[in-house]
Amino acid sequence: MTMLANAPIQPEDEPMSPVAHPSQALLRVENLSREFGGVLAIENLSFTVAKGDIHSIIGPNGAGKTTLFNLITGVYKPSGGTVLFDGATVSGLPPYKLAARGMSRTFQNLQIFFNMTAVENVMVGRHLHLNGTLLPALFRFPSLVRKDREAKERAAELMASVGLAKYVDAHASSMPYGALKRLEIARALASEPKLLLLDEPAAGLNATESREIDEVIKKVAASGITVILVEHDMKMVMGISDRITALNYGRKLAEGTPAEVAANPDVVAAYLGTMD
Ligand SMILES: Nc1ncnc2c1ncn2[C@@H]1O[C@H](COP(=O)(O)OP(=O)(O)OP(=O)(O)O)[C@@H](O)[C@H]1O
Ligand SMILES: [Mg+2]
Repeated sequence: MTMLANAPIQPEDEPMSPVAHPSQALLRVENLSREFGGVLAIENLSFTVAKGDIHSIIGPNGAGKTTLFNLITGVYKPSGGTVLFDGATVSGLPPYKLAARGMSRTFQNLQIFFNMTAVENVMVGRHLHLNGTLLPALFRFPSLVRKDREAKERAAELMASVGLAKYVDAHASSMPYGALKRLEIARALASEPKLLLLDEPAAGLNATESREIDEVIKKVAASGITVILVEHDMKMVMGISDRITALNYGRKLAEGTPAEVAANPDVVAAYLGTMD
């Protein structure tokens, strides 16, 4: 077994949450809307993500997937509606507070610090997520490195769990793109989230690299972390999702199991037949 399966899902100084039942909701989005200059990027959207699920959000370019991530993670404030996370209303909270409550994410565009080593990127991730902003994390970084040998070990373990053991001390700028996409996932895991949101983790990857990401996501979910996945790679989405919510023009088009969503005529029409 690799490290992820053994990794604590919660910090040790917090009480354990009750045993997750598959039907238990970790995240609930209710009547969520977000407007940009009079245009609704997300319109009256409601859905529930069950604890332990891999729940994918699909939809054509501009459907509102990244906006939805930004609303869930507190980057944007909703124009209307609510987000409930782990039993509490969290809409309106800033990203660092949501991170402290157990949300973590990766971004559609790589957010790697190319002047650091791979393992340093993961270590910064922990402090970045838990303290909210980038700059204080970077200023404190040298002292953190001196103090925190354990943190390096933990970061190296996370890297091994996403298949990056050989890159621990590599300079980020020397790593191939596919490895950097996995490095971002390792960094997001460093804050020990309950919920991991992945925005197009396979974008720009070849088939082999996509399969590696696929394996990493399954392993993350198997370790007890709930995953919300935005991905255009339909083969991956159909293969690993427990549930799928399809969006178009900010509205829910369909929801269900992969088979149900793939067979939905509205979804097929929105993708102009690219589902097969
Ligand atoms: N900060 C912003 N200001 C103005 N409009 C925005 C902003 N963010 C998103 N939008 C608009 O909201 C809509 C949804 O964009 P979003 O990036 O969420 O789509 P997406 O589903 O992630 O697309 P893609 O698959 O291309 O990543 C688009 O029309 C976009 O132009
Ligand atoms: Mg997007």
